[in-house]
Amino acid sequence: MEPGPRGRPLLDLRVWSEEFAQLENALSQAFRPRKVHIAVRLEMQTDLDEAGLSHEPDLVVDARISVVQLQHAITDAALRGTKLVRETRQRLVTNAREKCLRLHRQPPGCPHHRAPAAEALNKRLEPLVCDSMLRMQSPEEVTSSCRQGSELSMTRELTDAALGLRSILPLTASLSEAGRLALGGCDTVELLERYGSPLYVFDELTLRDKCREYLREFATRYPDCSVLYASKAFINLALAEIVLQEGLGLDVVSGGELAVALAVGFPAGRIYFHGNNKSEAELREALFAGVGRVVVDNFSEIELLQRLAKELDRTQAVLLRISPNVDPHTHAHTTTGTLDTKFGIPIETGQAEAAVRRVLACDALDLRGLHAHLGSPIFEMQPYKDAIEVLIAFGREMRARHGFELRELSPGGGFAVQYVEEQPAPPASAYAEAIVGALRGACGRYGMPLPHLTIEPGRSTVCRAGVALYTVGATKEIPGVRRYVAVDGGMADNIRPAIYGARYEALLANRPLDGPDEIVTIAGKFCESGDILIRDARLPRVDTGDIVAIPAAGAYCLAMASNYNHATRPAVVLVAGGQARLIRRRETYEDLMRFDVRL
Ligand code: LLP
Repeated sequence: MEPGPRGRPLLDLRVWSEEFAQLENALSQAFRPRKVHIAVRLEMQTDLDEAGLSHEPDLVVDARISVVQLQHAITDAALRGTKLVRETRQRLVTNAREKCLRLHRQPPGCPHHRAPAAEALNKRLEPLVCDSMLRMQSPEEVTSSCRQGSELSMTRELTDAALGLRSILPLTASLSEAGRLALGGCDTVELLERYGSPLYVFDELTLRDKCREYLREFATRYPDCSVLYASKAFINLALAEIVLQEGLGLDVVSGGELAVALAVGFPAGRIYFHGNNKSEAELREALFAGVGRVVVDNFSEIELLQRLAKELDRTQAVLLRISPNVDPHTHAHTTTGTLDTKFGIPIETGQAEAAVRRVLACDALDLRGLHAHLGSPIFEMQPYKDAIEVLIAFGREMRARHGFELRELSPGGGFAVQYVEEQPAPPASAYAEAIVGALRGACGRYGMPLPHLTIEPGRSTVCRAGVALYTVGATKEIPGVRRYVAVDGGMADNIRPAIYGARYEALLANRPLDGPDEIVTIAGKFCESGDILIRDARLPRVDTGDIVAIPAAGAYCLAMASNYNHATRPAVVLVAGGQARLIRRRETYEDLMRFDVRL
């Protein structure tokens, strides 16, 4: 069977990659602190890339399945929800185990010699070999079912339509046995039954994969770099733990975000504290915790921080946030690096120079370098290149005039993600290439030593991992005008469409293969006409009780959620390997009244 017009269905390799991610995790635990990467070598290299398995592998497991078998397996998985071909998978895992044991026998001195006893390692791998029931279907069976004529080819077409969203959905998106949208191997309708509606689902594999992608793409091009997750995009205890396990640092902008990080034992040295109006209490907390950097935003903060650091007898390492006057061509509300902005200190007014001089004169502050954040989301590379040019040129001037050494530099975050089909986002590699290229180029031209590079991706780390699930309630048809389909969430859990005109896609989680039949407006349930999640969504005929899934909901939805209309904020589950874990429970009416004080 030829792949459909929109490419091959995404299913089986996603599941494979998920299983191998589990294996990687188990091995990484065993070989800590080293991270183990596994690649499955298939005969179709493109599949490997698509599956997001392009790490430099520690183990290469030879799958040796033919292209035809693979295509059959893919088709089978797409149409029937079959997960894997049993024999092949078992062989893969067995091979992997053997190779691990061989690694384990490496002599001391090699990176793996701290591995635990072979038996313990075996135990960790065991569950991966014998979990879930897998069904083998022969290529003949698939072929014969494919010959069943029009009905099947119709299904295929619609499959492809549903899968047009595959670059927006999490990596593990697939069909469940029941033909419904599954994430991390969990049927989304079952998740709603279990955890209630609306529900936010985070796919662990996608999240970890993104963390690794940023580390890999930047560190391979520029080893002296750190990746910080900008926690404002969405943080809670479980998220902070994952980011920590993946080896990223954290950008926090409040005492609250800092408290979450510290609660999971995030090493304070890997935390950067940002913000245009950090309070005295927050700065004290940051100093007391020993955060790695305070990113100083203005003159009042310089004085405050100097005083507090002195009081605590600390020297605090700081970066100075500059507004480089570069327009990233994004929404005005999220543009932060132009002249007229509340963030950072401008160069052209002479204030940035004055700030450098002042910080250099503060004996409790150690000025390590410069920071800029241009805005978010940024789809172009040129703004980053321009900002880096401005910062390096400014750094050189400051070196010449004040002996300032630019040891560290951050061009911030702001990397774009794909929300809708027609607006793909550049991959992490494109940002890495542009930023690293510009940095090396500018440093070369200005005769500056290469600084430590820090980036702060927030949205692009978590956005794709999150899917919002809503249940359809009332519908309203205005003949000749539009049909409103109201869901049980809206602007209280996702205010982005209302305040930025942000656009999203939707699919029906309970019938993802049904073709688009109508154009509807998905409205929220809150008391504002502006509470519209998607204007003109193309969906199958939607009825009360259907489940609407909105992908790319991982960033700045829950993070900006409110209790408007006294809504209880939704629960959040983390899915992986067919298991769901509640990582934030749904709020209750008691929660809503907890902070109220009666007369
Ligand atoms: N660094 C700094 C200093 C920032 O201010 C931000 C975001 C980031 C990094 C991370 O940017 P990201 O990689 O997530 O794009 N609520 C808006 C986005 C506000 C972004 C604020 N600052 C939205 O929903 O689009």
